[in-house]
Amino acid sequence: MQVKIARKFAVATDICAFELVRPDGAELPAFSAGAHVDVMLRDGLMRQYSLCNSPSESHRYLIAVLRDANSRGGSIAMHALEEGGLLEIGEPKNHFALHAQARHSVLLAGGIGVTPILSMAETLDREGAAFEMHYCTRSPARTAFRERLARARFSERVHLYFDDAEAGERLRLDRLLAQPRPDTHLYVCGPAGFIAAAMDAAKAAGWDDANVHREFFAAAPAQEGGGAFQVTLSSTGRVIDVASDMTVVSALAQAGVEVPTSCEQGVCGTCLTRVLSGEPDHRDVYLTDEEKAANDQFLPCCSRSRSPMLVLDL
Ligand code: FES
Repeated sequence: MQVKIARKFAVATDICAFELVRPDGAELPAFSAGAHVDVMLRDGLMRQYSLCNSPSESHRYLIAVLRDANSRGGSIAMHALEEGGLLEIGEPKNHFALHAQARHSVLLAGGIGVTPILSMAETLDREGAAFEMHYCTRSPARTAFRERLARARFSERVHLYFDDAEAGERLRLDRLLAQPRPDTHLYVCGPAGFIAAAMDAAKAAGWDDANVHREFFAAAPAQEGGGAFQVTLSSTGRVIDVASDMTVVSALAQAGVEVPTSCEQGVCGTCLTRVLSGEPDHRDVYLTDEEKAANDQFLPCCSRSRSPMLVLDL
């Protein structure tokens, strides 16, 4: 669908927010806390951005984008956009939804990973649900939406931590996550290293996997290596070669077999494909450790194979 950039404004050093509305002023499709939209940029470049306004608003979507020096083009292209311009976006999708059964929620954000967490905080506050929010950034100047959080009704539930603060004032994940409870859910969003640290701390403290939810705002760094292998389509028995410099998705596409994709970075789960035999080499950040160990599904946009052949349910 087409949207107009009604407003573009800085919310921290190197972070711009974009307010997106329908060009005709009509309502936008509803979304739930934790949802993101695909944003189509030039030359077929597509990026996913979490919606960070309250889902109770139907007249706008708010996204925020960090200008990333290591970006593959998405954040630079976004920052070059101007107010009044038109953008093509997809309908909101949610892989990071709040759990209705939670009696208490711990929201944990690292850097620009605050975007879906903000929307979650707004929702939990509106519902009168118990929650706490912990938000780590490099410095106050790099803390997106600091003003909004200070003015929020739930501001006393928000705890800010800065990397440039004294050691005693930084976030101690081991302390924060020390006491898991069956009715408490943890939601984590941020860079891969931040999420990995939170996952490790939660695991060490004995959190149940089912109570821990995470959303990467960017894929984990690509892992190098991986030789050639083959995949078999179980429906026809056709065998397709996957060269060492190709993804399974691109090898399949070259053979005329389309697998739906979105992020192409192992983040969103769109390309999830059942594996009937063989051992995948999981390189995504979408499946849980348990799901990976079962070896009965994989993300062919980034994952490869440890066995010479994978039989796919295609
Ligand atoms: Fe997003 Fe494969 S396309 S995980």
